[in-house]
Amino acid sequence: MWTQADAGHAAPNESVTRNGTYHLVDPVLGEEELRGIIDLCERVGTYRMASAEMSSTEIGAGLPERFECFYDLARQRGHENDQPYDPTHEDWLDFDRAFTCQFRETYADLGFVEPEESKYPEADPLLYHEAFISGARELLDRPVVVPVAALANLYVAGQWLGPHTDITEYRGISRSTTPQWLLICMHHSRLFDEWRLRIATAVNFFNVCEGGEFRCYPDGATEASVAAPKRANTALLMDTDSFFHEVRPVYRPDGRPAPLVRGQVLQFGEDRMWRVINPDGAVVETYAWEDVRFSVSWKGYCFRDDAERKAWVEHSDDLSMEFILERLTDDLLERGLLRNRNPDNVTMARAIVDAYYHAPPVEYH
Ligand SMILES: [Fe+2]
Repeated sequence: MWTQADAGHAAPNESVTRNGTYHLVDPVLGEEELRGIIDLCERVGTYRMASAEMSSTEIGAGLPERFECFYDLARQRGHENDQPYDPTHEDWLDFDRAFTCQFRETYADLGFVEPEESKYPEADPLLYHEAFISGARELLDRPVVVPVAALANLYVAGQWLGPHTDITEYRGISRSTTPQWLLICMHHSRLFDEWRLRIATAVNFFNVCEGGEFRCYPDGATEASVAAPKRANTALLMDTDSFFHEVRPVYRPDGRPAPLVRGQVLQFGEDRMWRVINPDGAVVETYAWEDVRFSVSWKGYCFRDDAERKAWVEHSDDLSMEFILERLTDDLLERGLLRNRNPDNVTMARAIVDAYYHAPPVEYH
């Protein structure tokens, strides 16, 4: 069950439709700015897979970065007793395609750098979009909003992204030192809220292709989803760290998943065609623009006040891994999901996902 987000209720000159948990911005950019973003998308030209990101920690040893998604999907397929983290598992390729094979590139990632240091000025109208900044203030109830990133995502025919929540950030730990699944499950556990950075995300849709609908679950994983309107130059602003969301498969005539494997790149050519290319340079498939879905995620850090922002920048109230594991272990022991205080990594990771992470059911093609 899903419902369609609709801009029909907006006043004629109002480009933002407000809902308690998300805003629909339509249109996002003026004609010239929109052309600038599409030109930028083509000029950047090469997009790598999300699976290129890796952290290195003891607790993550032997597990994929998005273990929470893989394990949840494996559970949904009835594989609780198998080893879904095992790359030789028959479903592994499916998990990878559903969660880590998206093509992406960073158009802007400022952190706390000054505005004039934008990597691509064409992305500035998005990065400093007033509706995103004021909307983030309102939705997350945090007055200090710092725009930090514009991240491009491209999907080819037959590609999709399963239901998930985005990677949460905390004071003192980051995705370079902490597995992504752990950061995400920490948020779902609600045990570390006082250290969590509130992040607003505006998912911008910049072209229209067949399929590839964006769906989100603002009322929870077990409730109806909301689909973004299928119009170019619109955006949904929401807390994607908290609400599950997904991208349905981009239409592909044979109805099969795109033949994607880790390590490939997506490249735009002089003939204005997109190509998925293997590491050895071999072309896997070629796509016209209409077979490709292009979106850009805006991210803004949201703070209660300058003191909170300062604590983030100056690391004056950071979490430590020791504290995190102790708090999680205590909670899991209390819930009867752990038998002792020193489980191996896989047992600990499974207990964490079992306790806190339950995504909406995956709907297949
Ligand atoms: Fe996401």
